[in-house]
Amino acid sequence: MAMGNAKAIKIGICGLGVVGQGVWKHLRRNGKLLEARLGVRLEPVRAAVRDLEKSRPVRIPRDRLTDDVMSLARDPELDIVCELMGGSDLAREFTLAALENGKVVVSANKALVCDHGREVFETARLGGGHYFFEASVGGGIPIIKALREGLVANRFDLIYGVLNGTCNYILTRMEAENLSFEDLVKRARKLGYVEADESLDLDGIDTAHKAVILGFLAHGRWMRLDEMLVEGIRRVTLEDIRQAAGLGYSIKLLAVITRDFESNRMFIRVHPALVPRGRVLANLDGAYNGICLSGDIVGTTFYIGKGAGQDATASAVISDIADAALVIKGSHKLLLPDEALSIHEERSTPCGILPLEEVVSPYYLRLTVKDEPGVLAQVASAMARHEVSIASVVQRQATGADRASLILTTHDSNEYAIRRAVAELGGLTSCLEEPFLMRIADFDE
Ligand code: NDP
Ligand code: HSE
Repeated sequence: MAMGNAKAIKIGICGLGVVGQGVWKHLRRNGKLLEARLGVRLEPVRAAVRDLEKSRPVRIPRDRLTDDVMSLARDPELDIVCELMGGSDLAREFTLAALENGKVVVSANKALVCDHGREVFETARLGGGHYFFEASVGGGIPIIKALREGLVANRFDLIYGVLNGTCNYILTRMEAENLSFEDLVKRARKLGYVEADESLDLDGIDTAHKAVILGFLAHGRWMRLDEMLVEGIRRVTLEDIRQAAGLGYSIKLLAVITRDFESNRMFIRVHPALVPRGRVLANLDGAYNGICLSGDIVGTTFYIGKGAGQDATASAVISDIADAALVIKGSHKLLLPDEALSIHEERSTPCGILPLEEVVSPYYLRLTVKDEPGVLAQVASAMARHEVSIASVVQRQATGADRASLILTTHDSNEYAIRRAVAELGGLTSCLEEPFLMRIADFDE
């Protein structure tokens, strides 16, 4: 049921790449449905790009395009502007200018929210604008809404999940198709999952950005990446995947946000982890993301959906555009986009950071060692010196003469002890390559 004379909300889109084209396409395609549901007409009217001559699968009239990004921030015709360029320089300049002009800005840019969230929210508050960023975490999963609205009554001692579609795609396809890491990065790029700078995905930084956003929303503290543990998936080999499978695990790149309410401290870690095969997250395929929020009132909740790619991300951006349109129409009330965004008001007692001695997990360790007498004993005594208790050892022939691969799992240890043990093992003359460490994640569901 379309409403013929519904108010028109004019939208400008900065960036017509994977996500921007999806937003333009679906706003057009589902325009009538959105109008019927929202009572306003959402009209994409202008877009900014870097290269005006580039051919794009989604056709947009040439007279709607500009290469002057900043002109959209100042355009009095636009009610909402979407920042879908990525990066932190021009994106930041554009966002701050639009907010200073009192505009509503919708963004999918997790790097910007993570690095400049405080400044962006403050500018929105002072300029009278609003900032929405649902698509910055979990692609099409409405996880920010779930955290901020559906679960607003809760405190969260544990939030964990798979937050990067590219890495999940690569790890699951390595396991299923035995393809090389490099080939899968290329395939993921073709599918529109990979960031312009692929190291953001592969080195765990994109997951870390998303975890920082969730950590802020849940606990009111912006953690810096250098205060966290951040590791990517580049060192995960087919051999690790096979060994993990033999032990009953799948390998996933996990973000884990823990909060100890007694000591009022939190920690965020991002790393590849062995997840027991029966668990929900172990079975996420391709670009799917999955997030588990454990609230003190609600208990455990799971959210699963496509975490990257054009359509899923466009769905999240359009949900923000819809919220923004309702705010503009005056039928929707919104919390101010400053620190009040975090669920718990923690400013009077800021949340501290857990020390590494209190970050506890069982571990998986792969060592490439000389295949000679006494090596296993050296490894066992190094682990014992750091009070890391070994749970299992598997020895396999490694490629190359007189080399063996040792796969160890440990009982619960802590980051401080295991790092010291690994440093010592890496220094042994019998250890031929840098040891590779992963965490085993066996959380209650
Ligand atoms: P793309 O690289 O596909 O698109 C970026 C767009 O921004 C292009 O249209 C490009 O123009 C434009 N652009 C970049 N720099 C400039 C500039 N200096 N001046 C004008 N235009 C510029 O990126 P995505 O669409 O994949 O990602 C966009 C944002 O969404 C990023 O922040 C990303 O992290 C985030 N995101 C992406 C997801 C995904 O699955 N792809 C999922 C969730 C979030 P031109 O086309 O002319 O080169
Ligand atoms: N590159 C990101 C990913 C896009 O693969 O998850 C979605 O944020």
